[in-house]
Amino acid sequence: MATERTLSIIKPDATRRNLTGKVNACLEAAGLRIIAQKRLWLTQAQAEAFYGVHRERGFFRDLVTFMVSGPVVAQVLEGENAVASNREIMGATNPANAAPGTIRAQFAESIEANTVHGSDSAENAAVEIAFFFSGLEIVG
Ligand code: CMP
Repeated sequence: MATERTLSIIKPDATRRNLTGKVNACLEAAGLRIIAQKRLWLTQAQAEAFYGVHRERGFFRDLVTFMVSGPVVAQVLEGENAVASNREIMGATNPANAAPGTIRAQFAESIEANTVHGSDSAENAAVEIAFFFSGLEIVG
């Protein structure tokens, strides 16, 4: 298995409910190391750029509005098969379909306010990590 990096975002529904530490505990218990982390409040333009791949989707406007509704915590996670491992511990996008014990099953409020984002491939992880972090900010 390969050591990988992936981009994680703790979303505004979770920062609002003071769940950053609980989410981080789940990530670390799953063997992922948080090798970079920052709290920031995205601008409209930043949220639109980050989710640009979804621009044509019906939920895009609402998604952007939600993502700028409060602070987020962007993170780089490192570990064995980090992309797939993080998606497993996150659970399905819709919390109604998320396996018991996953972050979304435990904490998500809805398909939109679903607590965390995680990169869906190693290629997208590299792009998404570079969106938030410079090399100097990542300490593996
Ligand atoms: P995320 O992994 O951050 O990537 C895109 C986000 O769009 C997704 O999580 C959901 O929070 C959000 N979203 C809102 N509505 C939908 C939907 N109908 N299908 C998929 N994603 C949705």
